[in-house]
Amino acid sequence: MDGDLAARRMSLHGRDLVSIRDLSREEIVAVLDSARKMVPLAEGSRPSDALQGRIVAMAFFEPSTRTRLSFESAVHRLGGSCLTIADAGATSLRKGESLYDTIRMLSSYADAIVLRHPQEGAARLASRASDRPVINAGDGAGQHPTQTLLDLATIRERFDTLAGLKVVLLGDLKYGRTVHSLAYALAEFGSEIILTSPEALRLPDEHREELKHLGAKLRDEPDLDKAVRQADVLYVTRIQKERFPDESEYRAVVGSYRIDAHTLREAKPQLMVMHPLPRAGEIASDVDGTPHAAYFRQAFLAVPVRMALLQAILGPAPRRR
Ligand code: NCD
Repeated sequence: MDGDLAARRMSLHGRDLVSIRDLSREEIVAVLDSARKMVPLAEGSRPSDALQGRIVAMAFFEPSTRTRLSFESAVHRLGGSCLTIADAGATSLRKGESLYDTIRMLSSYADAIVLRHPQEGAARLASRASDRPVINAGDGAGQHPTQTLLDLATIRERFDTLAGLKVVLLGDLKYGRTVHSLAYALAEFGSEIILTSPEALRLPDEHREELKHLGAKLRDEPDLDKAVRQADVLYVTRIQKERFPDESEYRAVVGSYRIDAHTLREAKPQLMVMHPLPRAGEIASDVDGTPHAAYFRQAFLAVPVRMALLQAILGPAPRRR
């Protein structure tokens, strides 16, 4: 690792990651560069003890497969260990304990806390309760910054840049936290953001205004076929059923968009189809075998990206005698 990269990496040492906007462009690039080097370690072909003796708490108060398991894999691959809450029902929250108290206590058991919680703002609250770094693994319809880092890693692996691309964000732009975080990063790197969603699931005005304020190239393209023809990246999302206040609102939009091999017939050859997963019918399985499908690579890159992030935040393992 060159000295400059080491210095930039060190700047994340001991810090929280609540929103993607907590990271500068240089810090994001440093994490992505470091993640590239972590790929052989994530594949298990080289061992590492960079987190030996370190404990990372996984506090998951909402369902998760990829996020929790890729974080756990990242910790184990670096020689650290995990304390895991995978089922909120099995904790003292059931007895009425506040999130603040749970996190405060957890921060005395672990060196960092990875938190997923249904309430927007939970990670910010947790960062105040904890004197150890808190990493937001999804707070309600708020933010999902580590997903954005791995999304960016996937795009950069294919295009070798994050600038000047046309990225279509498709689907639930109202409740989807992955797109809320990703849009800010795309704006920061100077890619064009094209919004395609059912009217009821439009990107909320507060994000539109803030993104425009930041100079984002942002526009709506309600016609899916037109959007697909222009796209370098088509980022598909699941309708966030669990966040709808009213089941009838969900029923009004379910099944309103779907990508299959036919939808992609006029796509650019280099188009990448991405999805944070899980998919629930938005991408047909006939896309999986096309060169456009990038979502399984995206899911794998979760491990080296989270390894790079954890190493940057938790720093080198204490020296062994
Ligand atoms: C996403 C999430 O939890 O926000 N999943 C993930 O972390 N890969 C997307 C989703 O659940 O739709």
